[in-house]
Order: sequence, then structure tokens, then C-alpha cells
Amino acid sequence: MKKITIAIDGFSSTGKSTLAKQLAKKLQYIYVDTGAMYRAVTLFAMQNGFIEDGKIDRHALVNALDRIELNFVFNEDLGFAEMYLNNLNVEKEIRTMPVSKNVSQVSELAEVRSKLVSLQKAMGVDKGIVMDGRDIGSVVFPDAELKIFMTASPEKRAVRRYKELLDRGEDVQYEDILENVQKRDYIDSNREISPLVKAKDAIDFDNSDVGLEDQFQRIYEHALRII
Ligand code: C5P
Repeated sequence: MKKITIAIDGFSSTGKSTLAKQLAKKLQYIYVDTGAMYRAVTLFAMQNGFIEDGKIDRHALVNALDRIELNFVFNEDLGFAEMYLNNLNVEKEIRTMPVSKNVSQVSELAEVRSKLVSLQKAMGVDKGIVMDGRDIGSVVFPDAELKIFMTASPEKRAVRRYKELLDRGEDVQYEDILENVQKRDYIDSNREISPLVKAKDAIDFDNSDVGLEDQFQRIYEHALRII
């Protein structure tokens, strides 16, 4: 079997990471959640006072980028890698609503994208990788052998996210989440640099009414045809 690169892009909360984790486990590939990297940079900016009332001090953040070290550390118990920011596990903090509210603005910055995209490219040099995000098939790995573009209705996505956050014990409102999902989609799709677009050779996958197992089987079959 040859090792390939699998790029999964799409709107927020479409279940990209669930699918990516399933594929990586089955194929024994590395899984990389690039959203976690943008979220970790956002958390760093918030912790250092570079974001106040939703406004970013772009200059301060860009000057501090060299002080940000990001690592994925595999957690044997969970079966996937967790995000570390400057040697601290930030997996929980990066998934909270305050980070979700600021992350799309941070992701618009050219300097942030350039730093993260080069780290992502380096992780994929040996192939055997499943990476999810917004610009993986278009910018990070334009030569990926398998590209999936995931969509689902905003309402379905907001319900999934709402349940996920409630399960984690966060005090959240459904309306707040729906608004955040739609706002991020808008910013991510309309930003100047590397907007969220479906790569020409990506497979469109709307999972509004598809179960997780069914979704996995369909995409896995696509992978099997290539490897
Ligand atoms: O995937 P997730 O929803 O965790 O991503 C959080 C945010 O990070 C997205 O809304 C987007 O602004 C940004 N992002 C990005 N490019 C990627 C991955 C995520 O701009 N490759």
C-alpha cells in the first residue's frame, strides 16, 4: 500500500475532525487538526492581552509570533494527539467560546498563516497524514491524493457543537453558537488570504443527513481506491 496525503476542508463544525481521526486510526496515519493550531495562537494572543473586546493588536501579536511554540503530543488513552502551546496542554482552553469568537480574526493575519502553513507542510513531508482545516487542499497540500470538502446546514452544525460543548460542561446558548458558526463561515470564506474554498479536485460531501459510520465508510472507500 502506498502512503498518501488526505486533505479534509470545510465549514466549521461539519465533523471534519471526527472523520479525520477515524481515517487516521484505520490507515495508521498521523492526524493533524490545523484548527487547533489557529485556536492555540488565538489563546496565546488573549492570554497576553493582544485581544481586547474582540479587537486584535495585530502588531503586538505579529511581533510575538516567535515566542509561540506549538506541538502535538500523542495521548495514548485518547488515541489522538493533543495541542500543546509553549509546552502546556491547552486542548480544553482552545475549544471554549471566547476562543471560538476570536479565532477567525486571528486566522486572517498573513504572518500567522505563513507560520502555521510552513509547520503544516513540514508535518506532511513523509505523507501518511490526514489533515483537516480550511485551506489544506487548496494551499497546504495542493497535491494531496484525496481531498474532501465537507458541508452541512448551519443549524445541524450548531446543534452538534452545542451538544459537544454541553457535554464538556460549558454554559452555552444554542443561538450564540449558531451565530458564531455563521460568523466564522463568513469571515473564513471571505478573507483575502487563503479563504475557505473547495479545491477543484475535492470531493463534495454534505453530511447533514449522513450517520458517522456511513460517512466514514464512503470516504474510506475513496481512499482504498487510491492507496
Ligand atoms: O476547525 P476549527 O473550527 O477548530 O477552526 C477554527 C478556526 O481556525 C476556523 O474558524 C478558521 O478561522 C481557522 N482555520 C483556518 N485555517 C485552517 C484551520 C482553521 O483559518 N486550516
